[in-house]
Amino acid sequence: MRRAVCPGSFDPVTNGHIDIISRASALFDEVTVAVLINKSKKSLFTVDERIGMLTDVCAEFGNVKIDAFHGLLVDFCRERDIHAIVKGLRAVSDFDYELQMAQMNSSLAEVETVFVPTSPEYSFLASSLVKEVATYGGDVSSLVPPLVLDRLTARLAERAE
Ligand code: PNS
Repeated sequence: MRRAVCPGSFDPVTNGHIDIISRASALFDEVTVAVLINKSKKSLFTVDERIGMLTDVCAEFGNVKIDAFHGLLVDFCRERDIHAIVKGLRAVSDFDYELQMAQMNSSLAEVETVFVPTSPEYSFLASSLVKEVATYGGDVSSLVPPLVLDRLTARLAERAE
């Protein structure tokens, strides 16, 4: 079976992530979306909340499952017999760092990184920008799934109280 992982913070999942996940699901037999547990990074949503949103929005893909990991991505891959990492490339500016990570990961384990060019309509999209725009009342309804929009609106309202 050809397995792949789509790793990330997903704080929160955006339409850009879903674009990459859906295309990975067409390329591989099984895709694991892996949420990085990073206690040193301040996040808007807990890992469980992020997993919940991903589970909901990825339900339409029959071969996609959601998991979480901490430590090295290559260790997660080794434990699950995954040999491909799928990454979206939004612009040339993503490439330098992604290439460095891909080369480091392949030096650590038998994993290939597969770069998928982000669809042009999502090339500017990042979770951090979605949060910033939403915080100041901007309309992000075309950038995240409806469920994520609801959770984002609710979380930002809680924070503003
Ligand atoms: O959504 P993000 O925050 O840009 O995702 C970054 C992620 C999770 C893909 C990357 O930070 C990662 O793989 N972290 C795990 C730690 C690791 O394996 N580091 C070595 C990379 S060469």
